[in-house]
Amino acid sequence: MENEKKVMLSGIQPSGDLHLGNYLGAIRNWGKRAEEFDCYYFMADLHTITVRQNPADLRRRTLEQLAQYIACGLDPEKNTLFIQSHVPQHAQLGWVLNCYTMFGELSRMTQFKDKSAKNADNINGGLFTYPALMAADILLYQPDYVPVGEDQKQHVELTRNVAQRFNHIYGDVFKIPEPYIPKAGARVMSLSDPANKMSKSAPEGCVFLMEKPEDIQRKFKRAVTDCDTERCVRYDRENKPGVANLMQIYSAVTGKSYEEIEREFDGQGYGVFKPAVGDAVVECLRPIREEASRILADKAYLESVYRAGAEKASYVANKTLRKVYKKVGFVAR
Ligand code: TYM
Repeated sequence: MENEKKVMLSGIQPSGDLHLGNYLGAIRNWGKRAEEFDCYYFMADLHTITVRQNPADLRRRTLEQLAQYIACGLDPEKNTLFIQSHVPQHAQLGWVLNCYTMFGELSRMTQFKDKSAKNADNINGGLFTYPALMAADILLYQPDYVPVGEDQKQHVELTRNVAQRFNHIYGDVFKIPEPYIPKAGARVMSLSDPANKMSKSAPEGCVFLMEKPEDIQRKFKRAVTDCDTERCVRYDRENKPGVANLMQIYSAVTGKSYEEIEREFDGQGYGVFKPAVGDAVVECLRPIREEASRILADKAYLESVYRAGAEKASYVANKTLRKVYKKVGFVAR
């Protein structure tokens, strides 16, 4: 058998610079299993144009994202790294799956509701049908696991429903994938507003992977904590969401449990805790930042990586697409 290994797949939109949420919620879990799994990771550029992009920025960020994937430990020899728009089967299967995804299902998607509220002047068809393209991204590679942060769970669940619906009609075409969500870091909240997830759209509460250490430190020192009188480092998501978020981040980068963190900062206030979290994050990101800058300077290398990635990905994707086309009744060329 050609492919006995289990398969993992995931993607990130190059619509902004990669941030700590993307890293802790997703990328960090990708590299860990490269020996054990057949892994596909891509830059989801087709998805980004559901919101208007500056073309030059999109091109630059797509390549930067690839350099950062590699710097985060994704070895291109062991992982298939590619640019979504280089593999036309995504758009092709995306169309087919649009016809097997229900209006009601798409209307319930939280990301659609959020993004259409934020982009009220551009609620386009692509924004609405985006999850069908995401289902295609996933199902083309027949993965077992899709490592994502908490906010993408709903889309992976929709993918499972669409796959099950299709299989029910045509027999076993798609493997039904599982979301793979980390224990710490699944939902990193904004440093400036812990009620909302960390996202590039609120840059003052967002830590970018390539940001300078002093800027990262400044953001942590200014992180919103809670206005309780207690002022101690204790994990209480409900009543102390700002501190809980910082504890989550600290736990994710140091591997320490919440009890260990409470003990470490026992008797100390937020003035000691916040810079300590900043230091830990700076040290965690430093090697990534340095390595990504080095890789980004080598354009020929990056090109060789994304070309090889697209070739391998297309080969696998095409097998699934051909099967789907045959099942639905299209004449083979
Ligand atoms: P995107 O580009 O918004 O985010 C990429 C990944 O980062 C995770 N993430 C977070 N995790 C924890 N805390 C946060 N604050 C945080 N912000 C983002 C996301 O959960 C995600 O794993 N639709 C997807 C991209 C996509 C995709 C796919 C993913 C397209 N096709 C196929 C998996 C499989 C998206 O918009 O993610």
